[in-house]
Amino acid sequence: MSFPDGFLWGGSTSAYQSEGASEEDGKGKSVQDVKEPPEGTARFDICSDFYHHYKEDIALMAEMGFKEYRFSIAWTRILPNGTGNINPKGIKFYQNVIDECHKYGIEPIITMFHFDLPEALEEKGGWLRRASVDEFVNYARVLFNYFGNSVKYWLTINEQNMLTMQGSIIGTGAVEDEDEDVCLKKTYQKNHHMLMAQARVMKMCHTNFPDCKIGPAPNISLVYPVTCKPDDVLAAQDFNAIRNWLYLDAAVKGIYNPIVWSYLKKHNALPEMENGDLEEMKEAKPDFIAFNYYNTCCVASWKDANELEPQSLMQGIRGMYRVVSNPYLPKTAFGWEIDPEGFRATLREIYSRYHLPMMVTENGLGAEDVLENDGRIHDTYRIQYLRDHIVQMDKAISEGCEVMGYSPWSAIDLISTHEGFRKRYGFIYVDRDDVKIGSMKRYRKDSFYWYKKVIASNGADLK
Ligand code: BG6
Repeated sequence: MSFPDGFLWGGSTSAYQSEGASEEDGKGKSVQDVKEPPEGTARFDICSDFYHHYKEDIALMAEMGFKEYRFSIAWTRILPNGTGNINPKGIKFYQNVIDECHKYGIEPIITMFHFDLPEALEEKGGWLRRASVDEFVNYARVLFNYFGNSVKYWLTINEQNMLTMQGSIIGTGAVEDEDEDVCLKKTYQKNHHMLMAQARVMKMCHTNFPDCKIGPAPNISLVYPVTCKPDDVLAAQDFNAIRNWLYLDAAVKGIYNPIVWSYLKKHNALPEMENGDLEEMKEAKPDFIAFNYYNTCCVASWKDANELEPQSLMQGIRGMYRVVSNPYLPKTAFGWEIDPEGFRATLREIYSRYHLPMMVTENGLGAEDVLENDGRIHDTYRIQYLRDHIVQMDKAISEGCEVMGYSPWSAIDLISTHEGFRKRYGFIYVDRDDVKIGSMKRYRKDSFYWYKKVIASNGADLK
């Protein structure tokens, strides 16, 4: 067992998926509040009602022995219109949450932005406008001014790569244009603004709050070639660059990944930049790499893959690669491949490329858990999933990877991005479903008791 002393065991949530109270105490609307959720899935107005249950929920996290709790701040609770007036009740709420964590010795880890752009900014064009850089920097300044002395760990943008590649699925808005190349250009223009915003915020953090630590939080997982045929290997390198390295090369080294750059250039889709942008990106350095991991993926070269036309960058790019399923991996009930060894491979790869400490900010299994009559939830599949991943993380650490913490998704049940409340991830069951708001009572799942032992033994007892 190789987990270092002080390893940050804990769990994660995001504001828009857990808090609810979407119109309470001066909160403005975010893009998640106004979107039409897929049929049969819950709206994001009540969620797990963490807003009113945070004391009880954090007490349960403390009972599990959490060393950290990673949560996001809703931009619209702090600045209801994205810019302008600060909402004192929003500040108060998050100060209460932070204080509650500290009461139990839990380190709060804050994500500044997790898929919930203020609708007022989206209406003006959102991340497509250069002004979005200043808007995010302004929001981050407010967060540092209020919470910079009581929060040590900060994450900038959750899964910027998924926002870029899957915006329409996670409800953050996809760009639309009849011309595919124009679409591509707009997509990467938004991405460039996020990269610039992130760079400035990391710099601001280090200048003004030298005791704080900050990093990006993309979703990183290795892309495998479907065979050892050289064309498949090239296809895997292409998708690795587009899915993973673009985001970390920019955040850590301040450079644009050359494979992505040449692809954008070929399609006349290079983002517009201002003088000095690349220099600014180079000046900003993260203290660690936070990343979310669920599963790897597998690609075939475009020529040989015999699948449907890809609908998004995540599924493939004409002429480059196509995502195919991996015949060696089992799947969750929701069809997600399970690959613990891929987790170890991903940790190794990130560490060899960037040599920065890593923080695993999401990993977990979504399932339709059943609340038994005796109040128990026997989520053995989740225990199995987490155990297998922890074993591989342990091995990666013993092979020299620096890992600071492990924060599974999710600390408590919450609403999935697009598959509703029935797709549960938590250690703590919340009594509601997609249609019916139940008692909202909290129950400890079997994984709750199991994870408690894992934390108490610093990862030695995984039984
Ligand atoms: C990550 C997101 O992509 O995966 C979370 O950061 C999300 O917000 C999680 O909930 C699981 O995905 P899903 O689609 O099952 O909710």
